[in-house]
Amino acid sequence: MSKRTLRVSKIRDGTVIDHITRGHALDVIKILGINGRSGGIVTIAMNVPSEKLGSKDIVKVEGRELNPEEVDKIALLAPHATINIVRNYRVVEKQRVKLPHLIRGIVKCGNPACISNSNEPIKSMFYVESEDPLRLRCHYCGRVMEKEDILQQF
Ligand code: CTP
Ligand code: ZN
Repeated sequence: MSKRTLRVSKIRDGTVIDHITRGHALDVIKILGINGRSGGIVTIAMNVPSEKLGSKDIVKVEGRELNPEEVDKIALLAPHATINIVRNYRVVEKQRVKLPHLIRGIVKCGNPACISNSNEPIKSMFYVESEDPLRLRCHYCGRVMEKEDILQQF
């Protein structure tokens, strides 16, 4: 395919999640709660050649701009992704997601006895032990959460 040919067309309004780690496009779809039944156009491209990553996945969600919580969740499973907000065919905002060392509040600890699951006003807190494969360790009880445990919550 020549450099001048677009594999997937540009969108008019919405969000392009670019530079997703190869193989993680469907995780991103899950995080965003997309099931294809709500009517909006969603385009998924997998294993697209990329100079930076070798190959990458891309997800384009038309008519929707992501909120900060969704961006934080994407960082967990696609730590190199770029979020592009598109309005009237132009990229008006580009944000590199970033996986912090400490994850607060987005993930629920899998241990029912953990103090972060009690009635105490304590927000969950995890250390990122490994990015790929994703492994988080609870600050309060030490429970290790892996990608599948986390995806189940979203
Ligand atoms: N894009 C799109 N529709 C638009 C504008 C952009 O689908 N109307 C997509 C592009 O195809 C690309 C992403 O949004 O996948 C980012 O666009 P752009 O910033 O123009 O591309 P690059 O400069 O290559 O981005 P980067 O520097 O982040 O690699
Ligand atoms: Zn815990």
